[in-house]
Amino acid sequence: MGNKTFFRNRYVCIIIFIILLITGAGCKYDDQILLPSTSCDTLIVTYSATVLPILNTHCRLCHSGPNANNGIRVDDYASVRQLVTNGKLLGTITHSPGFSPMPQGSKLSECNIAKIREWIARGALNN
Ligand code: HEC
Repeated sequence: MGNKTFFRNRYVCIIIFIILLITGAGCKYDDQILLPSTSCDTLIVTYSATVLPILNTHCRLCHSGPNANNGIRVDDYASVRQLVTNGKLLGTITHSPGFSPMPQGSKLSECNIAKIREWIARGALNN
């Protein structure tokens, strides 16, 4: 039995074809899994729909009301705007040197940081 006979066999060809199909489909599947995790939508960012919900979820517990930590409040626009102006909002959430890293003990997702950064870049509007 030489190599020629082996590769001429139709069944072997069909099996190889099926294997190629399966591995091809496997690659496509990987692409689909990778896409959503790398995309971060910063096209539409507003104070009310984007920034406030992030601050409410990750900062409000320690930074709202008259007993807010360090007197820092993130529960009204004027206070947040002040943190934008003095650089403390971006400094703390990006864990930049010279700022206390916030939220205490963790870090916002890169996507949430990108959204806040984009909102600031567009003028930190009360929108
Ligand atoms: C578990 C409580 C807690 C959470 C959650 C938290 N903070 Fe703080 N934060 C503190 C405390 C306590 C201080 C004061 C001590 C310090 O500076 O580390 C502080 C200080 C700060 C300061 C002043 C830091 C400086 O360098 O002057 C800013 C600004 C701030 N927080 C913003 C935030 C933001 C924005 C979030 C959410 C992304 C957040 N914090 C989440 C407890 C918290």
